[in-house]
Amino acid sequence: MPRLYESRKRILVTGGAGFLGSHLIDRLMAQGHEVICADNLFTGTKRNIEHLHNNPRFEFMRHDVCNPLKLEVDEIWNLACPASPVHYQYNPVLTTKTSVMGAMNLLGLAKRLRCPIFQASTSEVYGDPEVHPQREDYWGHVNPIGTRACYDEGKRCAETLFFDYHRQHGVKIKVARIFNTYGPRMHPRDGRVVSNFITQALSGEDLTIYGDGSQTRSFCYVDDLIGGFLKLMDAPESVTGPVNLGNPHEFTMIELADRVLNLTGAKVKVVHQPLPSDDPKQRRPDITLAREKLGWVPKVELPEGLRHTIDYFRALV
Ligand SMILES: NC(=O)c1ccc[n+]([C@@H]2O[C@H](COP(=O)([O-])OP(=O)(O)OC[C@H]3O[C@@H](n4cnc5c(N)ncnc54)[C@H](O)[C@@H]3O)[C@@H](O)[C@H]2O)c1
Repeated sequence: MPRLYESRKRILVTGGAGFLGSHLIDRLMAQGHEVICADNLFTGTKRNIEHLHNNPRFEFMRHDVCNPLKLEVDEIWNLACPASPVHYQYNPVLTTKTSVMGAMNLLGLAKRLRCPIFQASTSEVYGDPEVHPQREDYWGHVNPIGTRACYDEGKRCAETLFFDYHRQHGVKIKVARIFNTYGPRMHPRDGRVVSNFITQALSGEDLTIYGDGSQTRSFCYVDDLIGGFLKLMDAPESVTGPVNLGNPHEFTMIELADRVLNLTGAKVKVVHQPLPSDDPKQRRPDITLAREKLGWVPKVELPEGLRHTIDYFRALV
């Protein structure tokens, strides 16, 4: 339902044509807000937001967050950044610039407008963790010169900037550390395990597992994650984060492959390839903070989320 005029906000979402950004915009629009989506379409696509084009409360602007932006808005969500290794390693210098300069430009805007700003940070700030599961007070184990560093260190520096703008300039910040998320509108060629398995199964190719498949990941369904974003933004100003948002339920890659094979009915094999460098062996969020401060827990079970995702990819393939 459209909001009453007084409670309607103008909201900037950077990276809004991407997977998570487009779902966030849908939820903000459903709440009756006006949304400006700024995206350079590096990994995002207009298809993710095309259903909004005739809506007078929606605007798209092609913009690179490495450049400053002059706008009047009530709230900023910074999601602009390629998120999967194939995309962020394509131009690693640009990836670091996007995280660091993007954060500086948008924090500058939030400072001038005195408005809250959300940062899509990542579980990758924990690197290849030595403690398990990861709590927000764990400082991480990141290789600063590895091929993933452009993303991991870029996001770590962005967090530093968020907290320094908060301490030094009183900017109202909200920092979420997002763990692996999946769902409709994921990029079909992002090289991430869920999209890989599903597209391979649907096109009758063998599923590729890197390493022996005993490494674990936790997967959060996109609707759950966006619910967590909104709760964090709505929480009192003192709740700045960083807060982990993800699903703590762990699966091995072998278990995930089995589920995808079951749900798609594909008659293909699983093949193994060497593990990429710096690939974390295990990653699982401790979501105690999100539960206590935001009253948030993910609800969608893996089979249900996979079904929605498979339906989306089936239509796409
Ligand atoms: N999906 C996940 O599992 C996950 C996990 C951790 C963190 N995140 C973070 O969430 C955010 C969104 O991720 P996603 O999965 O939707 O990825 P995505 O690639 O689908 O979306 C990122 C969007 O940012 C845009 N973009 C990239 N560089 C830009 C730039 N310089 N200027 C303007 N726009 C730019 C892309 O075109 C794309 O639309 C990212 O910041 C990512 O690091 C995602």
